[in-house]
Amino acid sequence: MPFETAVAQAPAADYETALLALAIPRGSLPPSLEGLDLQTGGAIGRVLAAGDFTGKQDETAVIYPPGPAPRVLLIGLGKPEDVDRSAIRRAAAVAAKRTRSLGVTRAAFHLSAEARGKVNPADAGQMIAEGLDQGAWQYNEMKKPAEDKKPPLERMEILAPEGSGDLTQGHKVGQAIGAGQSLARSIQVLPGNVCTPSYVAERARDLAQRHGFLITVLDRAAIVQEKMGALMSVAQGSAEEPRFIAIEYQGSDSAPLVLIGKGVTFDTGGISIKPAQNMEDMKYDMSGAAAVLGTFEMLGRLKPRVHVVGLIPSTENMPSGTAVKPGDVVTSHLGKTIEIINTDAEGRLILADALSYARRYSPAAVVDIATLTGAIVVALGHTATGVMGSDEQLVEELRGAGERAGERVWPLPLWDDYRDLMKSDIADLKNSGGRPAGSISAGWFLREFVDGFPWAHLDIAGTAYSDREDAGRVKGPTGVGVRLFSEFVLSRSESGERETRSVSGTKA
Ligand code: BES
Ligand code: MN
Ligand code: ZN
Repeated sequence: MPFETAVAQAPAADYETALLALAIPRGSLPPSLEGLDLQTGGAIGRVLAAGDFTGKQDETAVIYPPGPAPRVLLIGLGKPEDVDRSAIRRAAAVAAKRTRSLGVTRAAFHLSAEARGKVNPADAGQMIAEGLDQGAWQYNEMKKPAEDKKPPLERMEILAPEGSGDLTQGHKVGQAIGAGQSLARSIQVLPGNVCTPSYVAERARDLAQRHGFLITVLDRAAIVQEKMGALMSVAQGSAEEPRFIAIEYQGSDSAPLVLIGKGVTFDTGGISIKPAQNMEDMKYDMSGAAAVLGTFEMLGRLKPRVHVVGLIPSTENMPSGTAVKPGDVVTSHLGKTIEIINTDAEGRLILADALSYARRYSPAAVVDIATLTGAIVVALGHTATGVMGSDEQLVEELRGAGERAGERVWPLPLWDDYRDLMKSDIADLKNSGGRPAGSISAGWFLREFVDGFPWAHLDIAGTAYSDREDAGRVKGPTGVGVRLFSEFVLSRSESGERETRSVSGTKA
């Protein structure tokens, strides 16, 4: 049974539940929780007084008091003046994780009005829903069920004693975004032998069918016919067929936002083969595609007044007797020729043809998202997604959306000075400029295929997956991009799901 969250208009003090999770800022007990404290025979107050729990960020304590909730889980929110959207999302994620580790399947979550600080009820509802979903997510479908394994979390109720209108509205948004993020993670996590290009296309078809989106899937023959020579050069070495997916949600008549996701289902590097160390992580090279599909799950659930097209070029990158070789020259969809210097610089090749394909939509803006360069990990680590673009305003808009989403985005310059890095002796362009400014030269390569629309590029090579577990993340897929795209797309929607949003600092 998939995890679900719901708003319950009920006071925390006498709510019957197997576990009550309480988000508490640093300092003394918020006055609104005094009634509940009384119900628990003063147990919460005593834990605080003893200093066993102080409300520090990510801190937890479980107590077993008398009263209608046999377990009370306290979660630290950090300093009251620092409580922002990210702090709330994070506390909710910690609550869900801790509840799951206790083996409790149904629980309640409560954030008092004082504890939410400057965050409004709608935003709080959204953050709690996003966080709970994030913390509840796990993947063990490929393991045999262990006898002693804890059951998955089924349902968490968000208690809203003081009337639930705005909170419910926000919860609906957060629930849709959370579902999108979970969907993205569930696709990202799959190994390359399961998640092939045709599998990605099937997942897209399933989305289209469930939510009524338009969908077009090009197979190998159609890709050849469409003259996507750059995508085909990557696909030609693989026994698996490539796919080019176009999915469309037309919630308004305005020019669409086009989201392009890199869908390399496994990147060996091709003939310029990668070292064996950590090569298994290259199953995550379709994380951009997963982010786009996750965003469409959100769109299908919320149905906002906005027009969005998702484009996913999907292929493996394999070495073989039919693989493209260094030095080969190929002709892209746009008509520009490309000298393949390094077959491991394949992401930019498949994105180039998608950017060119996007012209037919006369887009209001195009944003691509891709695990594109190792260099972005050197520059920004696993903390921020890199952004570049031809349009200052669009880049700024994405930065703002990233702050609200708790998915940080940081700009790199696409100055003309860098353009020459991609000059070829024999063709219009080469696909690799070597080590200097590796992320920017990749950005410049893409820019050469941008024709007639505002464009920005997100490099998620450092943020798509995590090699360790922390408060906000599991080890493995992060679903990065779904929250960011959701904030971006919803703030552009005409129905004003997100007309007035405050940009608050984030720590996630
Ligand atoms: N998929 C990789 C980038 C990547 C690296 C993603 C690390 C996640 C973690 C991409 O296709 C790639 O191989 N890029 C090369 C480009 C180079 C050959 C110009 C890189 O970054 O080394
Ligand atoms: Mn590569
Ligand atoms: Zn790649």
